[in-house]
Amino acid sequence: MVTLHRDALDFLHRVMNKITVMDKLTPPSKSTQKLILVTFMLISFVCIFYVYYNPNTTFFKYPTVGIHANSSCSETCLHVLKMQNYECIMKNASDNPLTTPAPNPAKEDQDIIVLIWMAPFGVRFDLKDCGSEYNIHGCQLTYDRSMIQQAHGVMFHHRDMSADFPQPPRPAFQKWIWWNMESPSHCNQNDFLNDRFNVTSSYNRNSDIPVPYGRLVDATDEQKNFTIPKKDKLVCWIVSNFQEHHKRTHFYYEFAKHINVETYGGHFNNRINSEDYGNVVSSCKFYLSFENSIHRDYFTEKLFNPLALGTVPVVIGPPRYNYEEFIPRDAFIHVDDFPSPKELADHLISLDQNEEQYKQFFNWRKLYVSKSTSFGLEHSCKICDYLKRNKHYIAVTDLKGWFWG
Ligand SMILES: *[C@@H]1O[C@H](CO)[C@@H](O)[C@H](O)[C@H]1NC(C)=O
Ligand SMILES: *[C@@H]1O[C@H](CO)[C@@H](O)[C@H](O)[C@H]1NC(C)=O
Ligand SMILES: *[C@@H]1O[C@H](CO)[C@@H](O)[C@H](O)[C@H]1NC(C)=O
Ligand SMILES: *[C@@H]1O[C@H](CO)[C@@H](O)[C@H](O)[C@H]1NC(C)=O
Repeated sequence: MVTLHRDALDFLHRVMNKITVMDKLTPPSKSTQKLILVTFMLISFVCIFYVYYNPNTTFFKYPTVGIHANSSCSETCLHVLKMQNYECIMKNASDNPLTTPAPNPAKEDQDIIVLIWMAPFGVRFDLKDCGSEYNIHGCQLTYDRSMIQQAHGVMFHHRDMSADFPQPPRPAFQKWIWWNMESPSHCNQNDFLNDRFNVTSSYNRNSDIPVPYGRLVDATDEQKNFTIPKKDKLVCWIVSNFQEHHKRTHFYYEFAKHINVETYGGHFNNRINSEDYGNVVSSCKFYLSFENSIHRDYFTEKLFNPLALGTVPVVIGPPRYNYEEFIPRDAFIHVDDFPSPKELADHLISLDQNEEQYKQFFNWRKLYVSKSTSFGLEHSCKICDYLKRNKHYIAVTDLKGWFWG
């Protein structure tokens, strides 16, 4: 409530500044000034009253719905924003454009407009220029629903899907994109899936527009000079979604009998906020990158963040060979490499005593760095690129069968 109140005042302050500036340009008469002042005070009073009366109001339509710069990470925030600089700090609403500029005003017919129909998890990611970010040119990204008739592609985020679809008719050239980064075990089917979309985008390589959670990219000369961060913990695990039926839960119970695991997150009543996340993870020799469900290609920020932070991931997920399609074999430990949790625990304890052997896990850092996907932006830009290169008719008839089947 207090934050909102401050936002309201801030907002009014900015309006006031605007009016003052206007005054300077064309000085109105005394009576007009009085009128403006009285009207302004009246509006201010109503606003402040309204905000106090109903603190949950979305009156100011801040896109940072429900998340404030200072709130500790909610699960949503973790999920969406851990992939971006490990921070859950949202930018000010005024800093976030609703639409990127039209790239080529002179050649409008060549530009691809991608409309993001709903903010994923209710959080608007920053719209940046696909050209400078991904070398994909001629894209205009927008949240502005009034552009529905011009948009070449419309993105629908699975988790936020409701009956709230654009009114027909759908322009003949327009493609609808089903967008989802969760695994089939962790998102529900809904009634909107079949015979509606033209294109899919997910972590799954069989998507039309596959976007993994991260990747290893060439290191700069500076990055090649990597030093392992200082360690004061052996094994760490941050988990918010702790459920008895998860494979990782069974593994953890057995594993923790043989080794000390520093645990964090909601389940362990030990939440860490976004500022501490990087420090905590990098201070651990090993991090339990245990996915919530096992599916091909499904490895998430739980893998790519520790890799970026100089910590060795111990993974539960798809088989080792699937990981090795994305990261070097000596960059991680797979629980399947060991006959039992106890043997894994013994191995980690022995590695704790062997600095030389531990260092080998970072050989890949001489060449690569782990780069997390910029959630939303990367999808949007790649979708733009796809639409530019694929103007033909295409439809996803059996999305349920394909993704959940
Ligand atoms: C952020 O929140 C914490 C606790 O909720 C508070 O102590 C701190 O002063 C806040 N920081 C700012 C900058 O508002
Ligand atoms: C948001 O805006 C306020 C005032 O305009 C400024 O003091 C603050 O630093 C801004 N925060 C961010 C994250 O840009
Ligand atoms: C590599 O990093 C270390 C410390 O992190 C620094 O002392 C050294 O000068 C760096 N070497 C090069 C070639 O940049
Ligand atoms: C997209 O898919 C829908 C539903 O299958 C179909 O009616 C529409 O013609 C398709 N549009 C394009 C441009 O492929």
